[in-house]
Amino acid sequence: MTDRTERQDEKPAEWEPRIAAFLCNWCSYAGADLAGVSRIQYPPNVRVIRVPCSGRINPLFVVKALQSGMDGVLISGCHPGDCHYISGNLYARRKFALMKNLLEYVGIEPERVQFSWVSAAEGIRFAELLHKVIDTVREIGPATRMIKEVEAVQ
Ligand code: FES
Repeated sequence: MTDRTERQDEKPAEWEPRIAAFLCNWCSYAGADLAGVSRIQYPPNVRVIRVPCSGRINPLFVVKALQSGMDGVLISGCHPGDCHYISGNLYARRKFALMKNLLEYVGIEPERVQFSWVSAAEGIRFAELLHKVIDTVREIGPATRMIKEVEAVQ
């Protein structure tokens, strides 16, 4: 049986990171949409999950994404002061800081989960952010420590 740490270091030649992007409906999702309609290229290995507000993102969503085979997670919401629910993004930022500590504690690289503000007018910024997230996760390698469901199926 392969040691978990050894598997974490394996990077298949054809491997491309898979990213789950939790985007707030009002700003970041609209920014992603703007990138699309402006024909700004961003990597196809991103799965967008639209949420009403970044404050709605439960840390368990992130854990579930990593367990389900995602290699990284992006959480994005409105800039401070722009949240349509007043302070949801500020709660999200606090939860995110705690989540990073928890991930580190359980041995998951905290860089796999990233947080950023993106407004509806920042299509270019959204595309650049995705490239940055993918490059960071590519450096770290595949996430295999939390994949339980996939192992159970194989
Ligand atoms: Fe966008 Fe709250 S509505 S972060």
